[in-house]
Amino acid sequence: MAHINLGVFVSGGGTNLQAIIDASEADKIDATVVLVISDKEDAYGLERARQHDISAVHVPVGRNESPEYAAADQWHVQLLAEYDVDLVCLAGYMRLIGPEVMTTYAEAILNIHPALLPSFPGTHGQDDAADYGVKVAGCTVHFAWSEFDTGPIIIQAAVPVLPDDDGDSLAARILAQEHKIYPQAIQWYAQDRLHIQDRRVIVDNAPPPTILEAIISPGLEI
Ligand code: GAR
Repeated sequence: MAHINLGVFVSGGGTNLQAIIDASEADKIDATVVLVISDKEDAYGLERARQHDISAVHVPVGRNESPEYAAADQWHVQLLAEYDVDLVCLAGYMRLIGPEVMTTYAEAILNIHPALLPSFPGTHGQDDAADYGVKVAGCTVHFAWSEFDTGPIIIQAAVPVLPDDDGDSLAARILAQEHKIYPQAIQWYAQDRLHIQDRRVIVDNAPPPTILEAIISPGLEI
């Protein structure tokens, strides 16, 4: 694939969207965000899109399985076609994507989750990890399947959990890594280097792990 068009779904602040836009504008990825969709009218992610002259659309979704939900699913498909979207990126989108989008974009929908899946799926991954008392937490970019936070894993980053952490401080440490791994996963997709084999994703010519800080927690004393 040469240069791909991205449709990004957001529900909130959109810092992952911003990281993707920045990577695109800096020519670090062979991809352009052409459309941003949100279920929330006041999502700051929509404002970020407008600041970059990217089309931003509020699509109310209603309750799961309601007529409004089905209509939103159809509207999503129409918008994605209208903007010639190649890859759908869920970036803090807190609703389940509908069946029409799932079918139309089979194996072309990515999601980011703020935990080391399959641990701590759901909407409070960072709080759940902090409360559980894990020593290492992190984030995951994966292909989206119709169940929340499932689907073959492309890339993960791990961070230490420090003794004074609460959900917020841990979330901030994880978020910094999200902003690195999401553009990377998109670039591999754009380069056609991702291949799904059952649950595994093979990355062609995968680089060795990047280890910036050792992830040994608690630290070594000898
Ligand atoms: C991110 O931490 C993302 O991983 C998470 O929402 C946050 C959105 O932040 N997504 C989920 O929890 C999905 N289950 P952002 O709007 O600043 O990108």
